[in-house]
Amino acid sequence: MKILVIGSGGREHAIIWAIKRSARTTEVFCANGNGGIAEIAECVDISPTDIGALSDFAFEKEIDLTFVGGENSLALGIVDDFERKGLRVIGASQKAARLESSKAFAKDFMARHDIPTAAYRVAGSSEEAIEYLHEGVFGDEGSPVVVKADGLAAGKGVVVANDRAEAVSAIESMVSGELIDARAADTIVLEECLVGNEVSVLMFADGEHFALMPATRDHKRIGEGDTGANTGGMGTITDPNLLSKEQTATIIDKIIKPTIEGAKAEDYPFKGILFLGLMMTESGPRVLEYNVRFGDPETQAILVNLETDFIDICESIENGKLDKLLIEWKEGSSACVILAAENYPKSPKSGDIIKGIETASRREDTVVFHAGTELNENGRFITSGGRVLAVTATASRLSNALHRAYKAVNDISWDGMQFRRDIGRTSGIK
Ligand code: AMP
Ligand code: GLY
Repeated sequence: MKILVIGSGGREHAIIWAIKRSARTTEVFCANGNGGIAEIAECVDISPTDIGALSDFAFEKEIDLTFVGGENSLALGIVDDFERKGLRVIGASQKAARLESSKAFAKDFMARHDIPTAAYRVAGSSEEAIEYLHEGVFGDEGSPVVVKADGLAAGKGVVVANDRAEAVSAIESMVSGELIDARAADTIVLEECLVGNEVSVLMFADGEHFALMPATRDHKRIGEGDTGANTGGMGTITDPNLLSKEQTATIIDKIIKPTIEGAKAEDYPFKGILFLGLMMTESGPRVLEYNVRFGDPETQAILVNLETDFIDICESIENGKLDKLLIEWKEGSSACVILAAENYPKSPKSGDIIKGIETASRREDTVVFHAGTELNENGRFITSGGRVLAVTATASRLSNALHRAYKAVNDISWDGMQFRRDIGRTSGIK
């Protein structure tokens, strides 16, 4: 089969890596890819948001199946457009994608379906948001409150404010456009601040059935000990002990089933990849956010464990037959450490020559996925984005997976390379 993957990050590199392992794959194209993806697929220079050009390309190349990586393409309705044109595509429909593209929509959806989440208020202006801050629902004036821009903001639209003064400045900097594109902040969501461990639960969904992937933990802050600025994610782990059987059963009962049934009842059955960002609070799991796609770098840590043919899974999603497919995962754990460019996340420096990728890739059970790389005129990899590489390893135990990943990290270097040395260490898992 000829496959087209839409996107250009480490996530898409991992998706293509999984697709290439299928005996059914004959050719893979990627719009628009990166330096590492170019080694295993044909990269085409079409933007993931240029849906007309992407469908023209899919016709011209007689693509059998398209897999959509990121939320921007999904929120623009790529899946609806491809399906209207008779092209086979995997991803959430535009209506289902509102679970990610509008935080107010997602919160109201959870309220309608009694899905546990933080208490919230939706405001249509900064004045209204500031008024709501004084409501008792968020605790006393000295307690933290979470300020979220309604729309897509590449992970920058959430501020956990320590008190009301910080919340007011977060609201103002979102609405003014200083922090994010102001269009994403025409509506503001305020949330009660929850306390607990965060876990990401991803699943394949076919509109009616779902199949869980191994639970993961992301490390979003740039600095060790979870300090400093928020990033797209500095590393992830998967480990069977992240969630107990009881916790998983509760998540399925109280969150996943009502979500899948709710979307179906509201006439936008959820097909594709559903990602739950959860806070495990003292009173049980709460949804922090829905994403309607694979996470980055969760995907890298997840897909290295996948044993089942990725194309078979895609076809089961398409045909509504996920319940008939046994999806198998390697036993054990995995770890993914992000290597980021100098000055990430503020203004990452690009153009630095990267050394050691080949040596690192030769290590046992280790894969180096590329996120922001490019080949220069001498055929050497250079940095070309904030997150540059995702060094990923598997092992029977988390400590060994981490050890493997960090050994490979030691092989790689460039001027100004940054990474966290404590990925997985705060999980409490040995
Ligand atoms: P989101 O993009 O909605 O997942 O938010 C990004 C990060 O903000 C999450 O991973 C949490 O660390 C934090 N966060 C979001 N909502 C809340 C909340 N209601 N309470 C505490 N932390 C939150
Ligand atoms: N790593 C978080 C995300 O992909 O949204």
